[in-house]
Amino acid sequence: MKEPVRQWVRDARRIVVLTGAGMSAESGVPTFRDAQAGLWADFRPEQLATEEAFRADPRRVWDWYALRREGVARVAPNAGHAAIAGFQQRHPGRMTVVTQNVDGLHQRAGSPGVLALHGNIAEDRWLDRPRACCNLDAIEGGRPPRCAVCGNLRRPAVVWFGEMLPQRELAQAEAAAAACDLMLVVGTSGVVYPAAGLARATRGRVVVVNPQASELDDAADVVLTGTAAQVLPELLED
Ligand code: OAD
Repeated sequence: MKEPVRQWVRDARRIVVLTGAGMSAESGVPTFRDAQAGLWADFRPEQLATEEAFRADPRRVWDWYALRREGVARVAPNAGHAAIAGFQQRHPGRMTVVTQNVDGLHQRAGSPGVLALHGNIAEDRWLDRPRACCNLDAIEGGRPPRCAVCGNLRRPAVVWFGEMLPQRELAQAEAAAAACDLMLVVGTSGVVYPAAGLARATRGRVVVVNPQASELDDAADVVLTGTAAQVLPELLED
């Protein structure tokens, strides 16, 4: 099945690559729906990645993110990230990366203009609307850090369950999905919307790359059973 897809890649004027946690699995970043490791084995992401969970126990949620943040800082982009970035550099303007990942690995691999729908784990922002006193220069350290005057907390700049996606990135992703001839859906279970909806909204061909069955297989013209670091270099080489 790879050869026809390679031809679709060559022929496509615009390609969207929609990625999820499996994209970074071969870099050593655990996926969401894999069993949580060690300390966090008793928690599901849905119980930690919400504003409610953070307000109830800011330190627990902060520490979970701190651990993941340290984890992604230690790993490197894999051959799949590199294949995407290499294609984009050889074919400027033909490929848009839309990712649900917060790990920054596409950006570190050299992909330009990545649309990060779920934010960036390396950044923080204020939990509540910042007041005049909320000043990064006068922050009180801690887990999490807080405004020394009013106590407003810093939180990870990621999208939590129940929160809106960044509207500019989502609109750009929707426009790219509507305009593309080909969408490669890589390493996502396809259960979280609106990201998964992009694969259903496109009129272009859809190719799923995943070693396991996903919820988007029914939307695919072709399902390539394999991993991101194996399949993408073969698909995207010239
Ligand atoms: P999931 O953990 O739900 O799914 C990961 C997918 O990657 C699965 O379908 C695996 O089969 C696949 N996979 C595993 N290893 C792979 C590999 N080496 N190459 C390719 N695919 C592989 O992660 P997401 O679909 O990204 O949202 O989850 C979507 C969202 O749910 C996340 O962005 C996050 C989470 O809750 C928020 O935090 C808002």
